[in-house]
Amino acid sequence: MCGVVACRMPGAAAPFLVDALRLLEYRGYDSAGVAILTTAGTTVSSRTTHRVDTLERQLDALEQAGVTGALSGTGIGHTRWATHGAVTEANAHPHLDCTGRISIVHNGIIENAVELRAQLEAERHVFASEVDSEVVSHLIEHELRSGGGLREAVTAATGRMRGSWAVVALDAQSGALVAAAHRSPLLVARSEKGVFAASDINAIAQWVDLFQAMRDGDVVELGEQFAWTRAGTGVTPPPFVSSIWSGTSHGLAGHADFMGKEIEEQPETAARIIDELAPRIANGSLWAELQLPPFERVAVLGCGTSLNAGRVIANAFGSLGDVPNSSLIASEGQSAIVEPRTLVIALSQSGETADVLRAIDDLDLGTSALVALTNSDHSTLARRADSMLNCNAGPEIGVAATKTFVAQVITGVAMALSALAATRRIDREYARRQVDDLRRIPDLLAHAIAASQKAIPPLIDEIRDAQGYLFLGRGSGVVYAAEGALKLKELSYRWAEHYPAGELKHGPLALVEAGTPVVVIDSGDRRIESNIAEVSARGGRVIRIGGAGSTIPALGLSLGTPMPGGIDRWGPLESVVPLQILARELALALGRDVDKPRNLAKSVTVE
Ligand code: AGP
Repeated sequence: MCGVVACRMPGAAAPFLVDALRLLEYRGYDSAGVAILTTAGTTVSSRTTHRVDTLERQLDALEQAGVTGALSGTGIGHTRWATHGAVTEANAHPHLDCTGRISIVHNGIIENAVELRAQLEAERHVFASEVDSEVVSHLIEHELRSGGGLREAVTAATGRMRGSWAVVALDAQSGALVAAAHRSPLLVARSEKGVFAASDINAIAQWVDLFQAMRDGDVVELGEQFAWTRAGTGVTPPPFVSSIWSGTSHGLAGHADFMGKEIEEQPETAARIIDELAPRIANGSLWAELQLPPFERVAVLGCGTSLNAGRVIANAFGSLGDVPNSSLIASEGQSAIVEPRTLVIALSQSGETADVLRAIDDLDLGTSALVALTNSDHSTLARRADSMLNCNAGPEIGVAATKTFVAQVITGVAMALSALAATRRIDREYARRQVDDLRRIPDLLAHAIAASQKAIPPLIDEIRDAQGYLFLGRGSGVVYAAEGALKLKELSYRWAEHYPAGELKHGPLALVEAGTPVVVIDSGDRRIESNIAEVSARGGRVIRIGGAGSTIPALGLSLGTPMPGGIDRWGPLESVVPLQILARELALALGRDVDKPRNLAKSVTVE
């Protein structure tokens, strides 16, 4: 998965492309590159296996050498997350055809690339890289030989491709810029600043207010007017969508990194979401707006942190309304059987995770309904589901999901409460009391941040050299232990596993030796004391996240006013804060890049 951007504007394209690529870097940071049209009818290309900052320096050097004096305002750019082919400059985008006339950037996978490459090589096309994407530029070159313009050639080329693509092609000869999309996100927009295409609205939100999300099979020529076609025939353009985050700051606002910023934004984000949803929960209207059929059971599906959020929501349906529930790892979705009258909730902050999209394609839904819970209401998942609920977390730039987890949990629990009230599984008065408890979450999160920022930094020296970490919880706390272990692995590159605390003595206790860090989420189940004792007896270093007197006194219990409704409904949501901060502090102490952990990208659009 990668980030794609393109522009046609009156001024110089290079500064715009660099700015946009910085905002897309979270989608992949193995390499970055641009191709810019020159006034002489050629393109200048610059690529690097380093970060966008290096690309910017390379472009500055070109300008100082006088090369960019002839550059125009038309160009394409790319950030890469390597799937096919090593991280090398040759494999970095943009990719050219044999003549240098056509440059392309691509996000997705060309599934029949091997076959197409063999055909093209047999026709004497010479490839410069190992990547599947390069077939696109050569296919376009081939199709241009039959006459016609770039749009016709892109249409014919994509007609031969299988897989997924968000492609923008630039023709140095005509200056044409054509975008094509199929199962990969691509947005196009026009404003007084110019014409733009991007994988993600965040990349261009500062220049546009409205955009259009390309649909599967769309091919658009990005000229003075946009010419929308599919399979060569004109189609009605998709509606204009307002960019709700236009004008939103994408800067660090004084924080050292985006992850730190996004952790601290959680109380305010939670408060905004709860204020917006609260009036529609107990009266059932939030559920009614989704226009979904009655259900007898719930299944959640997702990957990584989104799956953890889904598990919290599934638990809430069970504990609040006795609704049978299950969770499904999206990448294993092909073997899932959906029982009749199931409410399937697909969670994905990006709405573009390929495993999730494949799972919803593979599921035989029958009488069941699919609702998407995502942070992007123009995403592929949002478009394919029967109904959609936006978790409204706002832009999340750090690769590690933090505030989107909190936003998904609150939005999903609100939907659960509203559905249960609307279907009379709980009475409205009971639902109102739950909403009162939801309203306490922002304060609990703020308290957890303050307590964690005080308690965690002094612990780091002691645990920094450990090679493995255990995370334990009980009941509704287990899923938070899972999220803590995921965060620690992702950011510190150290082994971390989670277990229901009672399972420890059935095997994992063998891992514990003197000094092994064991993080325990103590949400009040008294049986956890014996599990802690088992660890301490073997010399393990217990880090207890709980109420007053704990190693990290971050839970609401420590305020002396635990949630009146008890903790089991959606678990100790505020416990995610010390888990995030622990992972971040450890990673920083180990010299890791917490916003861009190695080998990862924010939106995983390959299976
Ligand atoms: C979270 O910190 C991870 N980066 C990852 O597990 C992520 O949650 C997962 O890839 C799912 O992404 P999605 O929510 O965009 O579908």
